[in-house]
Amino acid sequence: MKNLVIFYSRRGQNYVNGSVKNLSKGNAELITGFISNAVDADVFEVDTVKPYDQDYMVCIEEAKAELRAKARPELKEYLKSVDAYDNIFIVGPNWWGIYPMAIYNQLEKLDFTGKTVHYVVTHEGSGLGGVPKTMKKACKGAKICESLAVHGGSAPSSEAKVANWARKAVG
Ligand SMILES: Cc1cc2nc3c(=O)[nH]c(=O)nc-3n(C[C@H](O)[C@H](O)[C@H](O)COP(=O)(O)O)c2cc1C
Repeated sequence: MKNLVIFYSRRGQNYVNGSVKNLSKGNAELITGFISNAVDADVFEVDTVKPYDQDYMVCIEEAKAELRAKARPELKEYLKSVDAYDNIFIVGPNWWGIYPMAIYNQLEKLDFTGKTVHYVVTHEGSGLGGVPKTMKKACKGAKICESLAVHGGSAPSSEAKVANWARKAVG
């Protein structure tokens, strides 16, 4: 069984436990490391050509505009195929209720037929939010299985929980 993690994560200013903090590693990035250690997964990072503003308050407005426009921001690199994998984990933050538009841009370009998808949402209170409703359409042909919501402030101490979840997910 081959495993892959596709993730997006914001480094720098983010909202943690009610205030803006500077993160050297994003929360979804931390979770990605926990999963890849636990189940020996390859990792692909989704990143946009145009960076979001470093200022958190500006970034949330940029993200809101993209959500409203159903934007598909250009990515630095596109994963061409998931053919080599059996289990694909998607990991990313809750941005205004669903994943950042960049994640959907990547997912929609892939054919997940015959693949199993598990996903994690990092958040500051909204949990999985509307992400579950978006997954079937975003991951064409996939069998959508396990999901996990991780509160951003707890991400650094969530390794055991995430590792157990990931091992169970891949069976
Ligand atoms: C643009 C933007 C929008 C956000 N919207 C929400 C939200 O609607 N609900 C929520 O619980 N958290 C929201 N957050 C907080 C992030 O989901 C949370 O900080 C998460 O842990 C970030 O993960 P990351 O460090 O991997 O990017 C938002 C953060 C950003 C930057």
